[in-house]
Amino acid sequence: MIVDVVLGLQYGDEGKGKVTHYLAKNENYDYVLRFNGGGNAGHTIFHNGKKIITHHIPSGVLHGIPSIIGPNCVINPEAFFAEIEELEEAGIDCRNLVKIANNCHVVTRDHLMSEVGESTIGTTRTGNGPAYASKYKRSGVTASQCMHLSDFVIDFFNEVLDKPNLKILAEGAQGFGLDIDFGDYPYVTSSHVTLGGLMLCGFHPSSVRHVYGVAKVYETYVGAKEFQDYENDKLAIIADIGQEYGATTGRLRKVNYLNLDTLYKSIKVNHPTHIIFNKTDILRKVRNWNIIDQQGIKKEMNSEETFCDEIQLFINKINPNIHTRFSFSPDRI
Ligand code: IMP
Ligand code: MG
Repeated sequence: MIVDVVLGLQYGDEGKGKVTHYLAKNENYDYVLRFNGGGNAGHTIFHNGKKIITHHIPSGVLHGIPSIIGPNCVINPEAFFAEIEELEEAGIDCRNLVKIANNCHVVTRDHLMSEVGESTIGTTRTGNGPAYASKYKRSGVTASQCMHLSDFVIDFFNEVLDKPNLKILAEGAQGFGLDIDFGDYPYVTSSHVTLGGLMLCGFHPSSVRHVYGVAKVYETYVGAKEFQDYENDKLAIIADIGQEYGATTGRLRKVNYLNLDTLYKSIKVNHPTHIIFNKTDILRKVRNWNIIDQQGIKKEMNSEETFCDEIQLFINKINPNIHTRFSFSPDRI
């Protein structure tokens, strides 16, 4: 078994979808597997020149790869079927490719209702937290118990874990700063978004080959907590040029400069073999190369070169074997 994984090093929306899309096209994976979260996620992908947004459905389907909504995920059947139809309208026939792990949990109407008006955390109101709460209270409904989903449900142990020699690309949702354990609790999501979250699917640790950590050259966060400590006008320009609107909720994302403390912790917890920094093209347009160091102090870099060198140096000090790449394009890495 070989498992490569794409996961978020910041607060979600780092561009994981783009990286997954690139890898799924260029490597021959048997499955693409989502290992956490549910309809709260929004992956924006440019596929054959078309902008496509997925929520539950792993982006492997865009390349005809069977794709699994994994254990530790939650699924809202109504939203799932709407998403299949949306993809079909965009010319992507995914009905026969998408599978749901038997032990994935269902988001019910009650879960959705209990988030109406929620404002404390600023959730996506997709019933995510309540569904995980029911799961852990042992009053939840699994996918295998849900009639509507029966055509899609597979026995994850038999079909994946007990099969020899599969090559799997796992994609995480959200990012390190939103992790239920490592994030800024309670301003977090309700799932395990780190490499540890992937391991909960049941893979042997030695089967993990490449860990692609994805970050942006600045940070964004959607939710209720205070996030911008610095001058808002420059950050507002980054948000505008970077088109920083939530793919699930359409909310304007809060922007801040690249934070080395977040990066340090997420590298230490996720052990990436590769790091992709997205949206370097946006900072090039804005001509603003600031970094917040581990002490929380803003450092103004005077050029793109010094900015990239500073980050590279920082990563080398943590682990010189990490392959780092800066991306300048919405559809390439
Ligand atoms: P929930 O996951 O809907 O419970 O929301 C909890 C927090 O995670 C909120 O601050 C959301 O805005 C944030 N969140 C959840 N999913 C994503 C995502 O895919 N990208 C960015 N933020 C997210
Ligand atoms: Mg997103």
